[in-house]
Amino acid sequence: MGKPIEQIKNEALKALDAASDVEGIKALSSHYLGRKGLVTHFLRNISALPLEKRSAVGKKANEIKKELDKAFQAALIQLQTRVYPAGGRIDVSLPGRTATPGSLHPITQINEEICDIFTGLGFDIAEGPEVETDFYNFEALNIPKDHPARDMQDTFYVSDNIVLRTHTSPVQIRTMENQPPPVRVIVPGKVFRRDSDLTHTPMFHQVEGLLVDENVSFGDLKGTLTTFVHQMFDDRTSLRFRPSFFPFTEPSAEVDILCVMCRGKGCRVCSQTGWLEVLGSGMVHPALFEQVEYDPDRYTGFAFGMGVERIAMLKYGIDDIRKFFENDFRFLAQF
Ligand code: PHE
Repeated sequence: MGKPIEQIKNEALKALDAASDVEGIKALSSHYLGRKGLVTHFLRNISALPLEKRSAVGKKANEIKKELDKAFQAALIQLQTRVYPAGGRIDVSLPGRTATPGSLHPITQINEEICDIFTGLGFDIAEGPEVETDFYNFEALNIPKDHPARDMQDTFYVSDNIVLRTHTSPVQIRTMENQPPPVRVIVPGKVFRRDSDLTHTPMFHQVEGLLVDENVSFGDLKGTLTTFVHQMFDDRTSLRFRPSFFPFTEPSAEVDILCVMCRGKGCRVCSQTGWLEVLGSGMVHPALFEQVEYDPDRYTGFAFGMGVERIAMLKYGIDDIRKFFENDFRFLAQF
């Protein structure tokens, strides 16, 4: 009859204790419980025992068979839950998985910086619609019917009288319509033009400024913008006001800053001029005051508008505006 069943069981459990992998346990299971396994063999030979012993030994052997089967299954489950599906063990020295914290888009950051500087100077923030009427985008701003900006080639028309705003200046009119002077607002927002190259995208961001009160002079405009540029860049960044033309300001000036790259020596960024154009500005045209029923003899004001991408490109030394909108994480993660 060979070994007693108790001994077989003890040997099996001892071997199981020593087994350290799935393969080993499966081999043991087959060695003891398989078709030609020791326990199976034992059970098969019970009929050779004397009649009076058969039932007791048979019962014991069946119990042991079940017990071993349970032990093998439990050992397998324990082992399988301890390893990764790929089969490797857990490496407790691996660093944990963390979520990468995001950051604000560089345009959002510069936009907030611009707004912070002006709110620090006492300006309120105003906003207006991105889909605008011809009236607010052009007509009320004294822009004549034949002005090139009104051409289909330059402006996105939604219908005959509805456009995607080409600048934030319409909010000048909307703000003045809604309140009496004094007015002191800045207007951040998206604007749209049919333009696309290294320095133009069809959508970009502007911040408009408008200040209206009694006795506002061009000197106030210069002082305000000088303070802004010195805070945005640094005190060494001087400004140059160049005569220009906008239908809604008179006089008008384009503002250049000393090239932040070469400090005026002349380089590729400033096209060897030493200066960089950063914004348009001027004294509010009296025609706008008449439009919103402000007394043009009592009130004067200044307005300005700047491109946020342009400021960001100068501040960070970026030469292609399209990088801001490609959503390349390697680019965005630098800010
Ligand atoms: N709206 C002008 C532009 O987009 C900028 C500007 C604003 C000029 C306010 C003067 C006053 O080019």
